[in-house]
Amino acid sequence: GDPRIQYISDSIRTIPDFPHKGIMFRDVTTLLLDHKAFKDTIDIFVERYRDQKVDVIVGIEARGFIFGPPIALAIGAKFVPMRKPRKLPGPVIREEYSLEYGTDCIEMHVGAIEKNERVVIVDDLIATGGTLGAAIKLLDKVEAEIVECACLVELVDLKGREKLSGKPLYILVEYEGE
Ligand code: PRP
Ligand code: MG
Repeated sequence: GDPRIQYISDSIRTIPDFPHKGIMFRDVTTLLLDHKAFKDTIDIFVERYRDQKVDVIVGIEARGFIFGPPIALAIGAKFVPMRKPRKLPGPVIREEYSLEYGTDCIEMHVGAIEKNERVVIVDDLIATGGTLGAAIKLLDKVEAEIVECACLVELVDLKGREKLSGKPLYILVEYEGE
């Protein structure tokens, strides 16, 4: 395996019982405090996607906005935000989804992505897969070509991968048992 992964994994903090009792919260803000961990994380994704003719990095609010843009800049792709409801000012398309705790909805500007553009979807973490599943449905509506979903963390026991309509998922660190 990649020797950088263990260092990245060690930089992610776990906070028990946040935001609710029984949830082990995987906190990537501690990764951002460590230059090597943050740089290596971005480098790994850049190395993976730089030669894949990626047109667009989609970042999912909020933490996909941290990791998506540096990847987009490095590979020469554009960055498109998928946002929580009523944040984007122009015409949007939207998709509702159920979250690990509650329900939510994401929106994307009409016209941000053209048919057949090659997209990588970036977020910090996949839990139930509801969020990424909704992102995939939005991208299907505009007939984008989804190259891959990319996350730092996968909570494997929640089986979020099964909600991704068969699209590939690339992750750096996995957690089991919670
Ligand atoms: C978290 C996380 C992912 C999503 C994963 O975001 O950053 O986006 O949940 O959960 P799922 O796979 O069960 O859909 P959250 O919606 O808590 O909001 P935030 O990123 O704005 O803090
Ligand atoms: Mg999120």
